[in-house]
Amino acid sequence: MPRKTALDLRQMKADNQKIAMVTAYDYTTARIVDTAGVDMVLVGDSLGMVFQGLPDTLGVTLDDMVYHGRCVGRALRTAHLTVDMPFMSYQVSPQQALESAGRLVKEGLAQSVKLEGGERVAAAIDAIVGAGVPVVAHVGLTPQSVHALGGFRVQGRGEEAAAQLMRDALAVQEAGAFAVVLEMVPGELAAEVTAALHIPTIGIGAGVGCDGQVLVVNDLLGLDSSFHPRFVKRFAELESPMTEAVRQYVREVHEGTFPQARHTFHREQPAPKLAKIY
Ligand code: KIV
Repeated sequence: MPRKTALDLRQMKADNQKIAMVTAYDYTTARIVDTAGVDMVLVGDSLGMVFQGLPDTLGVTLDDMVYHGRCVGRALRTAHLTVDMPFMSYQVSPQQALESAGRLVKEGLAQSVKLEGGERVAAAIDAIVGAGVPVVAHVGLTPQSVHALGGFRVQGRGEEAAAQLMRDALAVQEAGAFAVVLEMVPGELAAEVTAALHIPTIGIGAGVGCDGQVLVVNDLLGLDSSFHPRFVKRFAELESPMTEAVRQYVREVHEGTFPQARHTFHREQPAPKLAKIY
């Protein structure tokens, strides 16, 4: 099956099929999520927090996104690859946005790019789409504006905020985005936006009324047991077995019980040919 395109994903909404999207930041995870059948993989700038240990996404650079895009893109066989445009790689001007998007496609293997904002980024979306690069928009909680929003909190509450969110979603559709992420928006509002748009909505903390869902892969796999926001469902609890596996390794190295004879090469044995080695 070939890689999914922006057109395929738009068609999924037309066909009433839900879209499953997940983040990935490295080759191995990307290979696993692709094999598991996700429709879209997002190299999110959330990598600043879950991969680089930063307090927010603001310090992530375009070079970071290119690097991680390339790692993930090499692994994908069927899933569509969207790469995030990091803070200050598109806000300056539509020209800057176009040049940044160009790098993500040429060097970062992106099939589409994602940027945050509604009406205020319409000109940037128009410029990128005009150059033939599909765009995913992102409205609601836009983490790159964390300081202006006063924290990571639900957006679109109250009449005026809800009306603005609807205007933002319509503006990005009008500018040419082929999909839009709705982050931390009341479920009722997300369902209204989804009904009003002909492009797919992909929700995170926005309820089941969206056309698709996205989760950060570390959250989905339960890699950080101390982090449990309301909208995350952990489909596994991997932090504990991973910690236990490494603890066991440390124990065996300290005790001298690893490696055993079967993990050891011997002079008389024929040289084994390994498929891969570091
Ligand atoms: O950066 C990211 O991972 C995202 C998703 C949470 C939508 O933007």
